[in-house]
Amino acid sequence: MSYKIIGKVYETETSLGIPNLIVQAFDKDMLKDDNLGETITDSEGKFEINYTEKDFKEMFEGGPDLYIIIKTRDGVNTLYNGKNNIRHEAKRHEHFDIGIPKSAFAPLIKDDKQLLKVLWGVAWLDGVLEPGEKLYLKQVANEKGLADEPEIKTLLEEKPVSSEEAYASLVEYLGTNPSDEDYDELCRSLETLIALDSVVEDVETEFLASIPKRETRKTTLNQRLLGAFLDSEFIAKISKPKISTSLTVQKEGAYSDTPYRVMSQLIDKIEPPEIKEIQKILAGLFLQDNFAPVKEEITASDLPVIGQLPQELSGMFLRISPNPLFPPIGLYHWFDGDGMLHGVNIKDGKASYRNRYVQTDTLKIEKQEGKAIWPGLLNLPRFDSPHEIMIKNPANTSVIWHAGKLFALCEAGVPHHIRVPDLETVGAYTFNDKLTCAFTAHPKIDPVTGEMMFFGFSPIAPAYLSYGVVTAEGEITRIVPIELPSPVMMHDFAITQNYSIFLDMPLGFVPGKMIKGEIPLAFNPKRKSRIGIILRHGDNNSLRWFEVPTCMVYHTVNAYEEGSEIVLLGLRMPSTNLLIPSDDIENGKNSENEMAKMCRWRIDLKTGVIAEELLDDQVTEFPRINDNLVGRKMRYIYAGEGALYANPKPLLDGVKKYDLEKGTNESYFFGRGRFGGECVFVPRPNATVEDDGWVITYIHDTITDRSELIVLNAQKITVGPVARVMLPQRVPYGFHCGWVSSEQMATQKI
Ligand SMILES: [Fe+2]
Repeated sequence: MSYKIIGKVYETETSLGIPNLIVQAFDKDMLKDDNLGETITDSEGKFEINYTEKDFKEMFEGGPDLYIIIKTRDGVNTLYNGKNNIRHEAKRHEHFDIGIPKSAFAPLIKDDKQLLKVLWGVAWLDGVLEPGEKLYLKQVANEKGLADEPEIKTLLEEKPVSSEEAYASLVEYLGTNPSDEDYDELCRSLETLIALDSVVEDVETEFLASIPKRETRKTTLNQRLLGAFLDSEFIAKISKPKISTSLTVQKEGAYSDTPYRVMSQLIDKIEPPEIKEIQKILAGLFLQDNFAPVKEEITASDLPVIGQLPQELSGMFLRISPNPLFPPIGLYHWFDGDGMLHGVNIKDGKASYRNRYVQTDTLKIEKQEGKAIWPGLLNLPRFDSPHEIMIKNPANTSVIWHAGKLFALCEAGVPHHIRVPDLETVGAYTFNDKLTCAFTAHPKIDPVTGEMMFFGFSPIAPAYLSYGVVTAEGEITRIVPIELPSPVMMHDFAITQNYSIFLDMPLGFVPGKMIKGEIPLAFNPKRKSRIGIILRHGDNNSLRWFEVPTCMVYHTVNAYEEGSEIVLLGLRMPSTNLLIPSDDIENGKNSENEMAKMCRWRIDLKTGVIAEELLDDQVTEFPRINDNLVGRKMRYIYAGEGALYANPKPLLDGVKKYDLEKGTNESYFFGRGRFGGECVFVPRPNATVEDDGWVITYIHDTITDRSELIVLNAQKITVGPVARVMLPQRVPYGFHCGWVSSEQMATQKI
């Protein structure tokens, strides 16, 4: 038998029907009320609900005890509850007319106006109000009875709304200090406004063409909001100059100035983007073979040595490698893994090994929870800030010894202080809270003054670049902002005796792309590359920029002054995709992508003339010199040789020594299937000749799947290692290496 409930919901004061309300019918029961059906009021406020015996979950008794509940379209606000007005022993056909006073809607109307302004801003985010969008929003305005409101009327006249205005409306709607409940209400209201458009009309065709499914409209709008709010130009406009704190830098990193509180709510409303094939390849590439993490932290002494370790060689060789502890969330890039230090301590011709994670706060929390919590750089950050941390600083890129301390560095955040030789983490290090920007993985230490120069880039929010100096005693004395036309990834820089040298290369970060499932890094070949030269203790006012042909330089070798010229050596590549396999740079194939080659720039500060000279046609990476000559003219460079046959894996199969004076070079090939990493030059104690010392690196043998440390005589690298230290476990391919001499260790300050 079928049953029917019909009726009308109307405004008490005017008797006009109210459309788009939820009407629910229930049978009051002893244990649990049965929901008999639900519908939406039509344009005249009318409704009809049909039900049968089957809709009664409990035993059907006939003649239900009927009542009606009426809610707003979002289901949040109950406008009428008939539970206290039950129609007992209801007949097969029942009729309800329910009046609702205007006062029940008043607060909703105010919110609707603000929200409509937000929606209008959203529609304008791409700079165009498309006809379908306009009609759709007009319809919403009419349905909400707001079409005659002066502000809304102005909008209806197609007044362009900027992203900033849209954001301002959002802020206005939420208030200056919005609570989580406010955000929840915003999201519910957004859903309501979109869902209100219950009837798809012809006029909406154009709008719906780009958003074909009703269910995905809100997602699309949210995507556009997020895309706009993550845009660096937009952020630059809305960001108020503020003083960062070391804590901000540590916990929020690059995203510290983004309107993340809004985003944290919007992001939940977005379906995860579809992962593209290239990204899957990338994730696989850097988690396999010797890129895969090792599981154990071990300590081993008296390691087997083939050959003989020089008696004068005393200290610890270190490499830092990404070593993800847990299966990563989302897309994994090599740059994401948790930093692990692999150290070989050499003394009296003997060697010991230990590997230890850098115990960052985020790693400790993930260990407690037994899973990864923060995703890597190809993903959106955790705008919801679990444990009040938005992004992870993996502390995985390089190490440096300064003022009695060893630091593990990563450009995403602050340094971590590491104790030697046991490699235990002392903690995040913010120079007595004076560090107010990110800290490069490649600071430069003046070997004469002991000062350490550093920079920090911000790929999203201004200031896009900060530059600072640490005294020989380890105190930050200054951090100054440096102006850039747009944010870029800046990995390395250089110093001379009097100057610091920045590399403004057009590798930009476009986080909005993540929302579409695209790689958020983009090299823009149309943008010039520039070399910036600043007095060591200067600021933006004394900075001079020199344009060079567009290129990318991740690593410098060194720089020095010669007459009126600044001479800079670095590894130049025509373009980059940050090791992400791709032939497609700006729609054109570029086989030279990521091909780093030794290059020398001469910049005449008097004449402004720049000369660029390629020194080698072969690909090399991870260049090192005798660190006693940082900022001074040097003769020798040691760099890993690119194993191009291993592409897209970035492997090095040898070490090349450049003699800049003679213009020659010579190499040592690690052997078939053997790949190394950065080679560090360690000077012999009391040496008087630049290359009197050793070149040290880790090698991985892909046939035996074992790793070893090799020691080459720097003056005779072609003859092969004087000593090979066989390691108790493999050392994954990683990033930069360092040497801490026993003398330095003796001066350690904890
Ligand atoms: Fe680097």
